Amino acid sequence: MNKSPFRIAIAGLGTVGGGVVKALTARGEELSRRAGRELKLVSVSARDPRKARGYALTGWTADPLELARGEADVVVELIGGDEGIARDLVTLALKNGKHVVTANKALLARHGTELAELAESRGVTLKFEAAAAGGIPILKALREGLIAQPIEAVKGILNGTCNYILTEMESSGRSFAAVLKEAQARGYAEADPTLDVGGGDTAHKLALLSSLAFGTRPDLDSISVEGIEHITPDDIAYAREFGFRIKLLGVTRRVGEGIEQKVHPSMVRQRSPLANVDGAQNGVMVDAGAAGSFFFSGRGAGETPTASAVIADIVEAASETPSPVFGRPARSLTRLVPADAKAAVSPWYLRFEVLDVPGVLALIAGHLAEAGVSIESMIQRGRDPGEPVAIVMITHETAQANVERALKAIAASDKVRSRPCMIPMEAA
Ligand SMILES: NC(=O)c1ccc[n+]([C@@H]2O[C@H](COP(=O)([O-])OP(=O)(O)OC[C@H]3O[C@@H](n4cnc5c(N)ncnc54)[C@H](OP(=O)(O)O)[C@@H]3O)[C@@H](O)[C@H]2O)c1
Repeated sequence: MNKSPFRIAIAGLGTVGGGVVKALTARGEELSRRAGRELKLVSVSARDPRKARGYALTGWTADPLELARGEADVVVELIGGDEGIARDLVTLALKNGKHVVTANKALLARHGTELAELAESRGVTLKFEAAAAGGIPILKALREGLIAQPIEAVKGILNGTCNYILTEMESSGRSFAAVLKEAQARGYAEADPTLDVGGGDTAHKLALLSSLAFGTRPDLDSISVEGIEHITPDDIAYAREFGFRIKLLGVTRRVGEGIEQKVHPSMVRQRSPLANVDGAQNGVMVDAGAAGSFFFSGRGAGETPTASAVIADIVEAASETPSPVFGRPARSLTRLVPADAKAAVSPWYLRFEVLDVPGVLALIAGHLAEAGVSIESMIQRGRDPGEPVAIVMITHETAQANVERALKAIAASDKVRSRPCMIPMEAA
């Protein structure tokens, strides 16, 4: 190793940043051999210099922006957030000709194109493997490994918190609210879980997967997003009766001339690999057309898996000639043309809570038929007289717009007790 040391500055010493510092300290020599030059941590920054972290604060700097002005060859941004200090730091570091490694999906999903253009104009690397599916090297697979055939679709369980909640709801029969509360107590869910359970975090990751799969600019705003808050233990039990499990999926796929991007609870066939991703694990299925389907799974978050992806990026930045951030020169990324999500067809799971009175089934069937939705199978569970009953149906393939039209008419009836539930069924 006769090259100069590769000088590393890290901003953010929380779950991920702390893991990176510890890995560099524990495995520095081995990682340096891999990189072909010494990996040297020269400075760190976070908010609170007095916090006990269990390791030395090498070259502590109170202002993270100083890291972009200092001696470092790479700035590792592990603060988070799509604006503010994270965006300022990454922008300044790239402007100053420093490589950047980040785990920040929100920043890349929102500003990925402009940051990639900046990195490429300065001849430096911008790497973000940890930003989607944590320890799973899915971005590298899409950027480098699966390029020979056009990708048709990417479907992923990308949020460990949601998958943990759905798995626990299934195994215990408890409600969403009860399981969320327990997940928060055990540190599997944030105090404010909105970004996770509402699907926003999955959308950030999906925007990056889409871009790498289809050569388009990350386009967060065209993703239709629905979370898991309204899923009930009954939905999960009915799904099982029909041979499915409910998962929060991020799906991006070619539909006609456009790309459909959506995040929503989906019914996944029990035998599909995605259905068997349990707890806080992540899983991603790539349909690479003529090359076939590929499935990746593993830990999508947490200190060690996420730091592992960040470390891999640092080693690559130290040893490689910079390559295009999204696998193609940023200026050649095309504008994503959103496919009409409402036109996408699939079979649907529908659940209605209705009053047990004569004519209610005819009412539902009538509105579905009027909208062109045909029923494949149905379950009706009896309760005590006068109590609401559940009617659950699986439809044949039909467009979302048709189902929505029928459900709107059905929901207007005073025989229907709550908002009907509709969940698409995934083919694989
Ligand atoms: N956690 C995961 O499993 C995971 C997985 C994949 C990707 N990510 C991404 O990785 C990034 C970091 O996540 P994390 O979980 O490690 O976050 P975290 O535990 O909350 O740590 C954030 C760190 O940033 C520091 N910080 C916050 N505001 C700051 C400011 N204004 N100036 C300087 N430092 C500031 C904090 O300082 P103090 O320590 O002094 O408070 C802390 O060290 C995020 O982009 C996240 O989306 C996380």
